[in-house]
Amino acid sequence: MESSNEQKTLDVLILAAGLGTRMRSNLAKVLHRLDGRPLINHVCRTATALAPRRVYVVIGHQGEDVKTAVLEELDESHAAFVWQKEQLGTGHAVNAAREFLENEDSTLLVLSGDVPMIRAETLAALVQQHRAHRGKGAACTILTVKLDDPTGYGRIVRGDTGQFDRIVEQKDATDDEKKVKEINSGIYCFDTRKLFSALSSVKNENAQGEYYLTDVPTLLKNAGDDIAIYHHADANEIEGINNRVQLAEMERLLRRRVVKRLMLDYGVTFIDPNATYVSSEAQIGRDTVIFPNVAIEGQSQIGDGCTIRAGARVTNSKIGHGVTIRDYSIIIDSEVGNGCQIGPFAHLRPKSRMEDEAHVGNFVEMKKSVLGRKSKANHLTYLGDATIGEKTNIGAGTITCNYDGVNKHATTIGSNVRIGSDTMLVAPVKVGDGSITGAASVVTKDVPPDTLVYGAPAKIKKDLAATDEAPPSD
Ligand code: UD1
Ligand code: MG
Repeated sequence: MESSNEQKTLDVLILAAGLGTRMRSNLAKVLHRLDGRPLINHVCRTATALAPRRVYVVIGHQGEDVKTAVLEELDESHAAFVWQKEQLGTGHAVNAAREFLENEDSTLLVLSGDVPMIRAETLAALVQQHRAHRGKGAACTILTVKLDDPTGYGRIVRGDTGQFDRIVEQKDATDDEKKVKEINSGIYCFDTRKLFSALSSVKNENAQGEYYLTDVPTLLKNAGDDIAIYHHADANEIEGINNRVQLAEMERLLRRRVVKRLMLDYGVTFIDPNATYVSSEAQIGRDTVIFPNVAIEGQSQIGDGCTIRAGARVTNSKIGHGVTIRDYSIIIDSEVGNGCQIGPFAHLRPKSRMEDEAHVGNFVEMKKSVLGRKSKANHLTYLGDATIGEKTNIGAGTITCNYDGVNKHATTIGSNVRIGSDTMLVAPVKVGDGSITGAASVVTKDVPPDTLVYGAPAKIKKDLAATDEAPPSD
């Protein structure tokens, strides 16, 4: 017995096997990034919001990479992958999932991997109308919009009384049909069994020699089934990405939306909103001022009252309140406390942490290191695998020599330490609280607390001329 429409299970099928010839790229189209994430991730995240039973993804070009991208968004138990080895058109792509779906008494929402801006609310409304159509549900409901410039899209051809007649692709359209502004979004709801039954009759007799999914609605209509149209007002949501101009345009739209929201709802100042790149997942606090050419990427969080000067990049990092990030500094996967100062030209590599009011200055690099509260490393320094206590000063040119050619080793520096300029800390090594190293010291052994050390222990170890290891020629 058939279940009533309202109770039908919802499955989602995303088409993502094509190369995307018009991108002129070696990278599969759905892996191109928008807002820092592959196109396919956007579609998957939106699909998940509808809580479907399963999301089927048709993969082909760089299928393994697409799979990896999908699994960043979807739980493995909710995702299923279907291979389409040869890409013979959108109808052929859906057909690849036949063995999993053809006998399902369900509603199938078909999405395109290259239509990333569609909102979950719109899809929910589409599904609802599809199921409610004339009290018994439609065989197919097509999501359409009107575009001023419909070039490239399939056009919706309606009959005399406005009823659906067929979808005609750009390349197959007559001059009159090309004037139609209502287009097929490539997003549909189907009665799953009816879809697969009609799909068997789709032919590839068209300008592109492809099996078009767009032929299915007409086949169903001719068999006496109901085809519904869900006409949507927001054209931006259904824009497909077929070339790099569209990708750049979409990125610009998205960025403008994000920056506008941050200005109006969160009180962030942008000196030049058009020259700032903020991820839609980033959070920025009140009265923070962002200068031109700054990029705030991924899930970064920035506190209140910060100043971020030109050319800085913050990726997946957490920045406290009242922080100054000077020009051309890079902060990746790191954490910065309140009142810190960074840069110019500083580089915080992954897993670095600056505690409150710490300073990192010109040409300082940190990696997997902690700089304690009120400690400073202001000039030309490398801190790798290092832990530094509070109120310690790291002199200019200090290097943690953390790599012995095979393994990485830790450096631990206590609180209230003064590391003299040009100190080399040969790890593993510890410097105790309150100690001082003289300028140009090479520290190879642990320094106890409250101790002054100085000097370089470099001594001749072996005569390179006597071995086959030649010294460098310059
Ligand atoms: C398609 C529609 C068109 C609609 C437009 C909306 C068809 C025939 N045309 O055209 O009516 O206006 O989307 O954006 O459906 N794909 C596969 N396997 C294939 C071919 C395509 O998985 O063999 C995937 C692509 O990776 C892509 C999606 O299907 O994610 C759409 O394919 P694309 O070639 O972009 O179709 P359009 O020409 O945009
Ligand atoms: Mg497309």
